[in-house]
Amino acid sequence: MSKLFSPVRIGRLQIDHRVVLAPLTRMRAEEGAVPGPLMAEYYSQRSSRGGLVITEATIAIDGGNGYLGAPGLYDDSQIDGWKAIVDAAHKKGATIFVQLYHAGRQSHRDLQPGGGAPVGPSEIAHGGVAYTEKGWVPNTPNRALRTEEVEDLVSGFKLAADRALAAGFDGVELHAANGYLFDQFLQDGSNKRTDRYGGSQQNRFRFLNETIEAVSSVFGYDRVAVRLAPSGSFGDMSDTNSRELFEYVVSELAKLDLAYLHLIEPRVLGNDADLSRSQEPVATRSLRKLYPGIIIAAGGFTGLSAEEIIASGDADLVAFGRHFVSNPDLPERLRNGWPLNDYDRESFFGGTAAGYTDYTFFLQSKAS
Ligand SMILES: Cc1cc2nc3c(=O)[nH]c(=O)nc-3n(C[C@H](O)[C@H](O)[C@H](O)COP(=O)(O)O)c2cc1C
Repeated sequence: MSKLFSPVRIGRLQIDHRVVLAPLTRMRAEEGAVPGPLMAEYYSQRSSRGGLVITEATIAIDGGNGYLGAPGLYDDSQIDGWKAIVDAAHKKGATIFVQLYHAGRQSHRDLQPGGGAPVGPSEIAHGGVAYTEKGWVPNTPNRALRTEEVEDLVSGFKLAADRALAAGFDGVELHAANGYLFDQFLQDGSNKRTDRYGGSQQNRFRFLNETIEAVSSVFGYDRVAVRLAPSGSFGDMSDTNSRELFEYVVSELAKLDLAYLHLIEPRVLGNDADLSRSQEPVATRSLRKLYPGIIIAAGGFTGLSAEEIIASGDADLVAFGRHFVSNPDLPERLRNGWPLNDYDRESFFGGTAAGYTDYTFFLQSKAS
């Protein structure tokens, strides 16, 4: 009996299979970070009866972007485009969460309102690239947020959640992975603050914790989720005690009865396997004992390894990234053991329908 195709409850939501569309930045939004019909087609293609869809990282607050072409929910003008996407997903019988994000220091002044410096917990030199009108360019130095600005960001996330609710989303996933703003606050390589948002693990968790509370005031805790990349180094991240930090964060999240906890396995960071890690990897297996709720695992899974991790009890669902890029009917392919299309990296970020909505469905390719 396949566990991958057995039902599971997420809070008040019923999910019929466990092949989840991972959040995937594809940078095909229209002017003003507005989602258009091309995005609606893409999400419709990847929505299946009883499935769970998580949107790409969506800019929660103006200035919180690192990639031109990413969609937003920081302005009311962006709600209708999302409504069309949510309706398309629901029509296919899927549940859809929006991933809200703030890039923090992983940005460029050309992406900032007024051309100012990107913001982060502390002013620390770091690498990484942003995508602007000039293409991929090195991030520009960030400035440190003032305490009251952090409080404003929490309120900004609540407003984005209000818009997500208006668009009809079933829930919100906060992107606290991959070196973006929440992750920058969590890990001490990027957070040297001396106010109540820096220092102890409790203080570094505070920004995320307050945002969870604010967003839950809109959706309810059982429709709010968090994505973490425990010990991830993407975005120049580091922590002097990664294991203890993420064990603390996961234990705190376990108290909140969230929709789910989404964990990226350390064997894959962002897009590429990273086998030369300097930090001790903290994987789903070790965190499961601290988190009795629903866990979604992601990172380098195949149908077989997804079955295995669910059967072991270490995760309840598995999110697929790159395979879902090139296989819009991934759940059906895995269910039937059909072969998978290869993905084309060149068209991952930005562009047209090519490499976005033109991947074939198995039955369609067989018929032609
Ligand atoms: C093109 C691309 C875009 C991505 N964008 C996001 C994103 O917006 N938010 C996020 O949390 N992770 C993002 N990721 C990471 C994926 O969600 C996933 O964790 C990663 O691809 C590993 O899973 P996979 O081996 O199944 O591809 C992205 C990955 C890729 C390849």
